[in-house]
Amino acid sequence: MNSGPDAAPPIGPEATAASELFGDRLPLAIRYARLLTTVGTEHGLIGPREAERIWARHLLNCAAVADLLPLSTRLVDIGSGAGLPGLVLAIRRPDLRVDLVEPLQRRVNFLVRAVDELGLAEAVRVHHGRAEERTVSAAVGACEWVTARAVAPLARLVGWCLPLLAPGGSLLALKGRSAAAELDRDGVAVRRAGGTAGQVVECQIPGLDQPSRVIVIQRAAHRKQKGSS
Ligand SMILES: C[S@@+](CC[C@H](N)C(=O)[O-])C[C@H]1O[C@@H](n2cnc3c(N)ncnc32)[C@H](O)[C@@H]1O
Repeated sequence: MNSGPDAAPPIGPEATAASELFGDRLPLAIRYARLLTTVGTEHGLIGPREAERIWARHLLNCAAVADLLPLSTRLVDIGSGAGLPGLVLAIRRPDLRVDLVEPLQRRVNFLVRAVDELGLAEAVRVHHGRAEERTVSAAVGACEWVTARAVAPLARLVGWCLPLLAPGGSLLALKGRSAAAELDRDGVAVRRAGGTAGQVVECQIPGLDQPSRVIVIQRAAHRKQKGSS
């Protein structure tokens, strides 16, 4: 039974942003928001206080990142949790093919249920495992795009995510205000893991002050060999 707090459709500036970002997929986004704040809350995937900020902090924050993705590409979302950002991107962009990777069984159960209830089975696959596991790379590897939000510090994240990318493919790490400082701090680790220097990109959310901040790192086409100049 769904007894958790329910998400109302967005109101005020969030409503404008939501209809601009989701367009005719807004009803699907509202169904997902309700699922998050009912079943997701009951199963401890979303804190009870998240219901009131489900749009600005979660759905809109993730949806804005779709602007960085080209048409009809495939992306792998690492550590999807309750589907953020992977499911949101699949909702906003029906042209995408999305693989969600998540190690915790009860989160996987929620993701499978959400994909089914939202009718997204043709676009979204759910994988139970950790990014660095061989079974996961065999299932989803050599992709053009990897996304990850709130999964691990950048230095660790690149070690898990860059090997899943084809050379030239990009990691989009959704970070908060600390994005630039984190890239600065972990730049050496990023390059050691085979990444490019990286940059922070801000994706604007129409009508809201806070953009989504994304660290974009490409997998270098060729890894430098030890000892080469
Ligand atoms: C803080 S949650 C964030 C969930 C979601 N991305 C979000 O923004 O709400 C971190 C998630 O990363 C997952 N995770 C941790 N280590 C992982 C790994 N090595 N590979 C894949 N997922 C991992 C956890 O199980 C958890 O669901």
